[in-house]
Amino acid sequence: MIRKYLIKELLNKGKFLIDKEVLVEGWIRSFRYSIFITLNDGSTIRNLQIVLSKKLDKIIKKITIGSSIRVIGIVKKSIGIKQYIELQSSDITIYESVDPKILQKSILQPKKHSLEKLREQAHLRFRTNIFSCIMRIRHHIAFCIHKYFHEHDFFYIHTPIITTSNCEGTGKMFQITTMDLKNSKNYTKDFFKCQTYLSVSGQLEAETASLGLGKVYTFGPVFRAENSNTSRHLSEFWMIEPEIAFYHLEENINLAENFLKFIVRYIIDNSIEDLIFLNQCLEKWNQKKKNFLLEKLELILKFPFKQISYTEAIKILDQEEKKKKIKFFHPIIWGMDLQSEHEQYLVDKYFKIPVIIFDYPCRVKAFYMRMNNDGKTVRAMDILFPEIGEIVGGSQREERYDILLQRMKDTNIDINKLWWYLDTRRFGSVPHSGFGLGFDRLVQFITGMNNIRDVIPFPRTPNNAEF
Ligand code: 4AD
Ligand code: MG
Repeated sequence: MIRKYLIKELLNKGKFLIDKEVLVEGWIRSFRYSIFITLNDGSTIRNLQIVLSKKLDKIIKKITIGSSIRVIGIVKKSIGIKQYIELQSSDITIYESVDPKILQKSILQPKKHSLEKLREQAHLRFRTNIFSCIMRIRHHIAFCIHKYFHEHDFFYIHTPIITTSNCEGTGKMFQITTMDLKNSKNYTKDFFKCQTYLSVSGQLEAETASLGLGKVYTFGPVFRAENSNTSRHLSEFWMIEPEIAFYHLEENINLAENFLKFIVRYIIDNSIEDLIFLNQCLEKWNQKKKNFLLEKLELILKFPFKQISYTEAIKILDQEEKKKKIKFFHPIIWGMDLQSEHEQYLVDKYFKIPVIIFDYPCRVKAFYMRMNNDGKTVRAMDILFPEIGEIVGGSQREERYDILLQRMKDTNIDINKLWWYLDTRRFGSVPHSGFGLGFDRLVQFITGMNNIRDVIPFPRTPNNAEF
């Protein structure tokens, strides 16, 4: 039997396979001089050159761009300088030939298409160089996240997607029901006998797990029905949420920084071909400078992230405004939530490295964050990245029953629904901490894409759930 190879494997093993007969399958990217087929199977950004043998002349008409084929041939050292090996075909089977007239209307037509156009044909964009690069990198990021936690003794916990509570307390949730809401709103008759939603975060459940297993993490989809039509927001996105018992905020911050650096290092080491290709695209399209993407990633690794308290951040922003270095749209007042213009200024203009802001006013943060002795700020931390802004949001959790109960009352959290969460504070409660990393925002940062919709296979955003 002839051995079947992925193009990636074949090209990597190249010189050891010279004169061997092999089988490959893929989609035709180009067909030149009626003899050279460029074949790609998605395993790598690199293509395999197939040389059409004379005896296959009768199928020439069917060899069109986009067509899917199977090739049997002999590996030869290529005369061309672009590739080390090529395949001298002895047999080609065409699975399906694409009509060139249809091809013209699709993003598979080999010419430059905008990323917006690619989104309109999301079902075909896996076949493009740029999107396949992004998807391969997305895979490697997800893989190394599990690797990191596994190697650091974390347990992977599956928290529910259907919940009754709103962990973050703010923002809208998607409701789930099997009832016809036109006829009845009596949720005791609904599927779960109560009102249920798609979860905005697995944190509260992850906390309960950490209070038994020690170090846990979740990695799953979360849903937010906010009408945010920005380049950084999705209605359905993926979040990684580690939760660690006996961890204080400082340890939480260190974990987050080490974890982010590990991921960036891993991707530079394991996805360099795809990164180089993306860098070339960004150079061409956005007039970014040479090696811009790799330099941006190296910057993450080079220095410790800057750590400042919220109060210090406000002071810096206020001083910069007084020095007339910048005029913000939202005035700087202690107690306000930081807006993206403030975050961007601190990261991109002032410090020029990632910034960790901690100890936010309790008023702008969720009910579960641990109250500081000043009674005004909580042990929150946000990590802000260049271009993206907030990439991580986390905190030390309020482990003291009475204080948590009071905070829940003050922020109108339904105690009857979250009785189990409160209960954990009565059975050996301990200091504990965790954070949420926006997976898609991380992929966006690493791939250098301007829009988060271009780093997830099928984006869900307001007014859009096609495909
Ligand atoms: O800051 P957030 O809302 O934090 C939480 O949900 C906590 N429960 C996490 C925890 O402590 N376990 O969200 C965490 C991160 C943000 O920093 C951001 O990167 C990302 O999730 N994120 C979004 N990503 C894409 N689209 C959206 N609409 C997002 N909202 C938040
Ligand atoms: Mg946040």
